[in-house]
Amino acid sequence: MYEIGILGVGKMGGSILEGMLTNDLYSKKDMLLMVHSKDKFEDYKEDGFNVTFDPVDLFYSCKTIIIAIKPQMFKEVLNCCDKYDFDRRSIISIAAGVKIEQLEKYFKNATIIRAMPNTPALISSAVTTVCFNKDNEYVTSAINIFNSIGKTYKVTEEEMDTTLPLNGSMPAYAYLFMKAFIDAAVKAGIDPEIAKGLCANSVISSAKMVLSTSETIETLIDNVCSKGGTTIAGLDKLREENFEKAIYDCYDACVKRSIELGK
Ligand SMILES: NC(=O)c1ccc[n+]([C@@H]2O[C@H](COP(=O)([O-])OP(=O)(O)OC[C@H]3O[C@@H](n4cnc5c(N)ncnc54)[C@H](OP(=O)(O)O)[C@@H]3O)[C@@H](O)[C@H]2O)c1
Repeated sequence: MYEIGILGVGKMGGSILEGMLTNDLYSKKDMLLMVHSKDKFEDYKEDGFNVTFDPVDLFYSCKTIIIAIKPQMFKEVLNCCDKYDFDRRSIISIAAGVKIEQLEKYFKNATIIRAMPNTPALISSAVTTVCFNKDNEYVTSAINIFNSIGKTYKVTEEEMDTTLPLNGSMPAYAYLFMKAFIDAAVKAGIDPEIAKGLCANSVISSAKMVLSTSETIETLIDNVCSKGGTTIAGLDKLREENFEKAIYDCYDACVKRSIELGK
C-alpha cells in the first residue's frame, strides 16, 4: 500500500506535494499521483514518481488519499469509489464547500478530514483549517501535512464557514487593503516598487507583532498613535468612513455565501 495518493496535482495538490517532500514527510516511493493530462503524467514519471490516470488505482492502494480536484469534477472522477471500503484509511479533501457528509457517501467508513488551505500554499505559507469525522492518528498526519505548507487550525465543520473570511478569502481582502495604500502612494509620486515594499513589509511586520506580543490589538494601535499626530489623523478618517462597518459587512457576506454554496 502507498502511504499517500494525490488525486489532482494542480496548484493546491502540487503545493501540498512539494511541502510533504521538502519536509521529508514522505518519499516519492510512498506516493501515488493521479493526474489528468498526458504531459503531467510523463513529467512526474520522468521525475521518479508513481503516476496513474486511473482513480481506481488510488482507491485500491493508498492508505490516505488527498482529494485536490475541483468539486465539479467529483461526480465524474469519484463515480465508482462507493464500491470500495475505506475502513482504516483516510481521505483528506481540500475541495471548497464539499461537506464531510457528502464525502462519507463516496468514501465508506473512511476517516474524513476536510481542509481549507489558502493560496499562500503556493509559497509554503498557507493558513489551513481542518475538521474531521473521527479523531485518530490520520488527523494528526493530515495536520502534519498542512503544517508542511504553513499553519493549521482545528475547527468544527460549522466553523469552516465562519472562519473562511480569515483564511480562505483573507488574501483577497489583505491584497485590496494593500493595493489601496500602494495606489495612493504612487499617486503621490512614490516609486511603485518602493511603495509595494514599504506597504507589504509593514503589513508582514505588523502581523508578526500581533502574533508575538501579549498586548491587545487596541494597545498596539494606541502605541502607534500620539495625540494630534499623523497616524491618528489617518485613523480618524478611516473611522469617519466607517471602515470597521465595511469589514463586518464583508465578513458577513463571505460567510453567508459560503453557507449558501455548501447547501
Ligand atoms: N486555489 C485556491 O485558492 C484553493 C483554496 C482552497 C481550496 N481549493 C480547492 O483545491 C482544489 C484544487 O484547486 P486548484 O486551485 O489546485 O485547481 P487546479 O490548479 O485547477 O487543479 C485541479 C487539478 O485537478 C486535475 N484534474 C482535473 N480533472 C481530473 C481528473 N479527471 N482526474 C485527475 N485529475 C484531474 C487537473 O489536472 P490537469 O492540470 O492535468 O488538467 C488539475 O491539476 C479545488 O477543489 C478547490 O476548491 C483551492
